[in-house]
Amino acid sequence: MANLILVSNRLSVSVEKRKSKLEFKPSMGGLATGLSSLGQKDRILRIGWSGLAVDELGREDRREIETTLKREYHSIPVELTREDLESFYYGFCNNVIWPLFHYFPSYTTYDNSLWESYRRVNSIYLEKVLEAAGPEDMIWIHDYQLMLLPALIREKFPDAQIGFFLHIPFPSFEVFRLLPWRTEILTGLLGADLIGFHAYDYARHFISSVRRLLGVENNMGYVRHEQRLSRVDVFPMGIDYKKYSGALSNSGVQREMNSAARELQGLKVILSVDRLDYTKGIPERLKAYELLLENSPEYREKVVLLLIAVPSRTRVRRYRALKREIDELISTINGKLGTIGWVPIHYFYRGFSFERLSAFYGLADVLLVTPLRDGMNLVAKEFVATHRDTGGVLILSETAGSAREMGEALLINPNNREEIASALKTALEMDEKEQIERNAIMNERLSRYDIVAWTKDFLNKLIQVREVQEGYQVKKLAGDLKSELVAAYRQAERRLIILDYDGTLVPIRARPQDAAPDPELVDLLKRLAADPRNDVVVASGRRRGMMSGWFGNMDLSLIACHGAWFKPKGQKWQLIEGLNNEWKEQLLPIFELFKDRTPGSTVEEKEYALAWHFRNAEPELAALRAGEFKDILFSVTGDLNLDVLEGKKVLEVKHVNVSKANAASLWLSRENWQFILAAGDDSNDEALFAQLPDTAYSIKIGIDIFEARAYLESSTQLRQLLDEIVK
Ligand code: UDP
Ligand code: G6P
Repeated sequence: MANLILVSNRLSVSVEKRKSKLEFKPSMGGLATGLSSLGQKDRILRIGWSGLAVDELGREDRREIETTLKREYHSIPVELTREDLESFYYGFCNNVIWPLFHYFPSYTTYDNSLWESYRRVNSIYLEKVLEAAGPEDMIWIHDYQLMLLPALIREKFPDAQIGFFLHIPFPSFEVFRLLPWRTEILTGLLGADLIGFHAYDYARHFISSVRRLLGVENNMGYVRHEQRLSRVDVFPMGIDYKKYSGALSNSGVQREMNSAARELQGLKVILSVDRLDYTKGIPERLKAYELLLENSPEYREKVVLLLIAVPSRTRVRRYRALKREIDELISTINGKLGTIGWVPIHYFYRGFSFERLSAFYGLADVLLVTPLRDGMNLVAKEFVATHRDTGGVLILSETAGSAREMGEALLINPNNREEIASALKTALEMDEKEQIERNAIMNERLSRYDIVAWTKDFLNKLIQVREVQEGYQVKKLAGDLKSELVAAYRQAERRLIILDYDGTLVPIRARPQDAAPDPELVDLLKRLAADPRNDVVVASGRRRGMMSGWFGNMDLSLIACHGAWFKPKGQKWQLIEGLNNEWKEQLLPIFELFKDRTPGSTVEEKEYALAWHFRNAEPELAALRAGEFKDILFSVTGDLNLDVLEGKKVLEVKHVNVSKANAASLWLSRENWQFILAAGDDSNDEALFAQLPDTAYSIKIGIDIFEARAYLESSTQLRQLLDEIVK
């Protein structure tokens, strides 16, 4: 039976060594707590780092760690040395990727030796996966520490089912591009079948980086790289809803609550819980609390801020500096505003168990979550679930991933101290009924998409991707279908072969004038045309003059201007009936306007068409303009018998009678062909495919097929096929 193999840098359990004894404790942090909720089911195997440097342990300890992890946690430790941890974990992961992906580029160090170590440690994980995984297993890799692992596994197991989930934000292209190893990271991730993010924006940024850096387009969330399809999708991680929503009736939690409540002496409680991390906006939060107490003295001695900061990555300089800053701020505020009987901020620099933390959640009147950036933030969700049936107000930063699902919280800009202070006031004064109503709406969502639903959703999508990939394999022109085609060609006495030009016989070029036929193609077309049983039609959107220049001296039939002109072999050019050109004068100024508004785009005036090319324009801007332009074109062309064609990076307007399908019908009706092959790469060609008889072989170049019978991945593959049949 297949296993699910979860690979993450940190396991859900961390090992610590105290007084020469090993202790196994739950790990802190969203990823670890999230994955621990999946349980220790037999069929889930976990691979990750234990939390200790292997070279600082004796052989006995290593053996004990390995056996205990295996037996009690179904986990396999990855052994990392102190040096690995310095350069990989503290170095590349937490001094390069973490700050950059959280929009702190000035905290990022670009050091090649750290990158080398990232590559090396990803290979150490690869070895563990290869030892543990069988070909049937699903492998689900987690987070930014292991972004090269999907492609590394793919190289060894080409057919493995691999999912990847990023638990932190994926930054916008402008930030991601700063990374010297950006292409390698993208290629590493694209080894996965499914790449998941917490929020739509992160997925959008990833897709945009893939397009700009690898030149790969996305099609409804599918990205094709090196002949493989990967899917990019959004799965906002949920929590163990039952556990948190039932926490207040848990006896352990109640005990903790009673003892903490006594100490809090009826004060209103504002709670803050994070790892001590500069992304969490802790100093900003403290200053906002100070502002509240200064502006609204009536709250003094009435409220208390419980600040829990869990020690994190303490060997990184920035984290140590932040710790000093927080310590100082707290003593300044407490010193300035505190009284003999009242300390404004209670500070805990440590992590708490589920029972203690839930007790704090339960006691808190307000949870103050103000990260400057946060991939998701589970603390916010856990607090709201704990308050399923009670009041309690969540103040949440709009830059946390969870803000997308928690619109009923008081959303704030974490850099706006006044706004946070005012949200605190609103929260402290909010009517209880309103608090309960807001929490009820958020609870409904949290209960539906909990950690189990999140996992199922991800794994189901991973299975679906496989089905889509297999669907494409079926349609690929290979194996039996290819042999059938070759045999049908050989047997036929009369054959019609209709070939689109750009993107089909030659790859698309940035400058259309650079796509002239090369000698190899000329030779291939000549050999095809030389067989008297063949009528070979090259059908293009290009102008007549260009087609004559390139193909005039060959024994070919030609279709130009998307079908406005056609030329049966050995005859003259003829014009399709019923065309007119008056509309061009009316539309040309709009085309020119869009050209001027979109740097890099050009307008091409054809005899019976106008085209706006935007391949060389800045992609994001061009996509925006293209949408706008399309709307305008559809509205103005409605009464003019015109069609708007969407090609690859081109919008074109032409008379309705102008179409390759229309021109090709002249050939189709002319005789009873025994073999028909048509190949093309865009929607205009697919309109032609749609009118071919069922026995015809229609071939789409590219995987985004709708109408074709089969597909090939590139013009090179099509040329190989043509070469094979003509031999
Ligand atoms: N957590 C904990 N004990 C603590 C503080 C936090 O167990 O004293 C857990 C908390 O329940 C949550 C996780 O640590 O599940 C923090 O996840 P979050 O997504 O909020 O932030 P991250 O640490 O992943 O950046
Ligand atoms: C975030 C990251 C996790 C990480 C956790 C704790 O949640 O997304 O990958 O495990 O923080 O950080 P640590 O460095 O202690 O593993």
